[in-house]
Amino acid sequence: MLANAEQLLPGGGVTSLSLPGGVRKVIARGKGSRIWDVAGDEYVDYLLGSGPLIAGHAHPAVVDAVQRQAALGSTFYAVTEPILRLAQRIVDSVPCAEMVQFCTSGSEATAYALRIARAATGRDAVLKFEGGFHGANDYAQMSLFPSVAATYPSSQPSSGGIPHALVEDVLVVPFNDLGQVRAVVEENRNRLSAIIVEPVQRVIEPVPGFLQGLRDLATRYGIVLIFDEIVTGFRLGEAGAQGYYGVKPDLATYGKIIGGGYPLAAVAGQSTLMELADPGRRGKGDYVYFSGTLNGNPIAAVAGLATMELLDDAAYKRLFAAGERLRGGLQDAFARHDIAVRVLGIGPMFQVLITDETVRDYWGMQRADSVRLKKIAAAVFQQGFFLSGDKGYLSLAHTDDDLDRTIQAFAVAIRSQSD
Ligand SMILES: Cc1ncc(COP(=O)(O)O)c(C=O)c1O
Repeated sequence: MLANAEQLLPGGGVTSLSLPGGVRKVIARGKGSRIWDVAGDEYVDYLLGSGPLIAGHAHPAVVDAVQRQAALGSTFYAVTEPILRLAQRIVDSVPCAEMVQFCTSGSEATAYALRIARAATGRDAVLKFEGGFHGANDYAQMSLFPSVAATYPSSQPSSGGIPHALVEDVLVVPFNDLGQVRAVVEENRNRLSAIIVEPVQRVIEPVPGFLQGLRDLATRYGIVLIFDEIVTGFRLGEAGAQGYYGVKPDLATYGKIIGGGYPLAAVAGQSTLMELADPGRRGKGDYVYFSGTLNGNPIAAVAGLATMELLDDAAYKRLFAAGERLRGGLQDAFARHDIAVRVLGIGPMFQVLITDETVRDYWGMQRADSVRLKKIAAAVFQQGFFLSGDKGYLSLAHTDDDLDRTIQAFAVAIRSQSD
């Protein structure tokens, strides 16, 4: 089976996932906090499908909603009641959301949001942050994982096949450095259409005042501020990062949780911007084409709605407490062996970085000892914990016992790697 995967799929995988120790697994099923591979080995899962499964795998309420909708038809290329209910839910929950439009993946959502910003401003350039992740589209792949230091604001493609023109049109600056942002924005104010940012860049929190500083600059120069909330949306609370940090962008992108583990993503924001995508405006110069075969898929919509039903105040409290328990426990486990670590993350997200510095940006993460961490992560993986060594997610299905056993597994791994 594994040899076959290597022959059929580039690198033997379907995503960029790389498991610690170079292990390859073919997954058979998941339930709650657990997954099983085809060999029958069980893992506590910290990947959770890269984040959508905040309710855990195959939650009965989600499965039931999906089964009911599947029996009613899977897709219509037209508006359905489930997608209207989901749009309403987003508008009710998200401060910037006056209107919503749906697509299938987060990569599309960020591409559409940037297109709307360009159409609205008549400008081409985009400011993004070094190491900020916005998916697989060409803009998003600029300076995603540069290997050499940039001369800001010059960007570098992180994938082959990116049009050279984007080097001109994508400017990059370090996350959390408002001084650099201000300088670059002021110098390029006549050509910048958008500032796009992950409010929590990977697992790095914004320093106080950073997001508000972006808001103020964008407002002053008529630039569209886009929060990529594909990770933070409905994870840091129902108002996402914009609610958590109290800063309202012009547009925000959603994915992961809103589809409950099925393919769905969205752009939400000010109606004056969103209305540019009204197909009735076709022919106007600033009309934004926004359409796709599976857009607004009702199966994904009911899965997302069923997931959101579970996310009441008590659920968010539980998710944040679980995150703190795991991060604190891991921090202590490393400290006991005098290894300087920063266990980053907020709410139900975590990532261990072996470093003694306060990590503020991409290069701060790069300076951490990833080789040593991968070895430890491989030893944790072998004990039955599905994690990559990069960002991990927690779900409502993870029990305190799961978390404590994970901390224990790290302690064993750290010891074995310290001998
Ligand atoms: C912040 C952020 N933006 C965009 C994306 C891309 O979403 P997708 O993988 O659905 O294309 C991701 C995916 O992990 C993400 O974390």
